[in-house]
Amino acid sequence: MKATSALLAPLIAGASATIYYAGVAESGGEFGAYGTPGTGIPGTFGKDYQFINQAGVDTHVDKNHLNLFRIAFLLERMSPPSTGLGATFDETHFGHFKDAVDYVTVTKGAYAILDPHNYMRYNDPSAQPYSGSVIGNSSDPKAATTAQFGEFWGELASRFKDNEKVIFGLMNEPHDMTTELVLENNQAAIDAIRAAGAENLIIMPGNSWTGGHAWTEGSDPSSALLNKFKDPANNTAIDIHEYLDVDFSGSHAQCVSDAATHLADLTAWLKTNNLKAFITEFGGANNTGCATMLKDMLNYMSSNEEYIGWTAWAAGPFWGPNSPCCTDSAQLGSLEPGSTAADGTPGLYDTVWLPVFQPLVPEELQWNGKATVNGGELSTFEARGN
Ligand SMILES: *[C@@H]1O[C@H](CO)[C@@H](O)[C@H](O)[C@H]1NC(C)=O
Ligand SMILES: *[C@@H]1O[C@H](CO)[C@@H](O)[C@H](O)[C@H]1NC(C)=O
Ligand SMILES: *[C@@H]1O[C@H](CO)[C@@H](O)[C@H](O)[C@H]1NC(C)=O
Repeated sequence: MKATSALLAPLIAGASATIYYAGVAESGGEFGAYGTPGTGIPGTFGKDYQFINQAGVDTHVDKNHLNLFRIAFLLERMSPPSTGLGATFDETHFGHFKDAVDYVTVTKGAYAILDPHNYMRYNDPSAQPYSGSVIGNSSDPKAATTAQFGEFWGELASRFKDNEKVIFGLMNEPHDMTTELVLENNQAAIDAIRAAGAENLIIMPGNSWTGGHAWTEGSDPSSALLNKFKDPANNTAIDIHEYLDVDFSGSHAQCVSDAATHLADLTAWLKTNNLKAFITEFGGANNTGCATMLKDMLNYMSSNEEYIGWTAWAAGPFWGPNSPCCTDSAQLGSLEPGSTAADGTPGLYDTVWLPVFQPLVPEELQWNGKATVNGGELSTFEARGN
């Protein structure tokens, strides 16, 4: 390394001391299954669904210097209902998924979160987030078992264990089930992943849509149980979603629920339990109220060491003028580079990503080595090597 860059590094590093991974969710792999039961399963790759657009990932890495992509897929496509949830995969589908993960991690050198976008349910994604049987529901004869969920993750982990830039996101947004079963399913997955010999970073959801504001709330809170998991590799963090609108759903255009207030109890819980967290879904519309609250949220994460990574919701290849969040259903586009609104004006990429998020992407992120709860060596994009 040149002496000049070593001397400059401490000045640049001031932007963030604690965020190691920053980027966008790539939503599109879960598309095309909505409708009558069975719709889009298995579906046609490139028509019903697609994981990433390489050109969009190129812009987000080469120009925006993002190092994290959360890539959604459906369990029913990876592990088809005809054979059931488990270690038998649709190899054609897996091949497409692996192409996307390899593009992000090997070609671009960024990190990838594998995201089964299934709400802790399996066998019918046709009316997500409510359709399908809750995994591990022993009173539902159609439900996949907790053991099957473990078998699924053991197989997926065995296929990615030699790629230290792959992060296992156990499940998107469990809800309307007991927190005990969320923990049991998570633990079965952790056990199977480690039994497969994979030491990759795991991020684990809680109950109630894994909402940060809800972590300590209600009669069956995530906070009561989700510190009880065991990971022999000590490499599991908590996966949080947190929207800023009135009901934390991400469907409204007005941001009124600020992160510092609503994440305070979660942050204290993380600190008490010596745990780290990623926030893998959050966002806002193109108005000044949301711009302020999103900036505050990004600054909140980078000033609290419990938070080590984030992905905004969402980029992805198939959004067109539709918006992934936060617009009262207005078609204002997405965080995909080049996205446009329905009226042809610039989309959320230009109106929210570039002005609001991009200035708060840390100058230094981790670009090399294993993803871990402790992070890794930080460097600028230019100094990342290889
Ligand atoms: C479990 O299955 C039973 C029987 O189908 C159903 O009544 C119950 O609501 C299910 N529990 C959950 C959490 O979905
Ligand atoms: C995990 O942490 C425990 C407790 O600090 C320690 O005893 C153990 O050696 C660690 N295991 C690994 C694989 O680092
Ligand atoms: C948000 O973007 C849309 C589409 O470009 C535009 O019509 C609207 O005026 C913008 N809203 C604000 C508050 O800037």
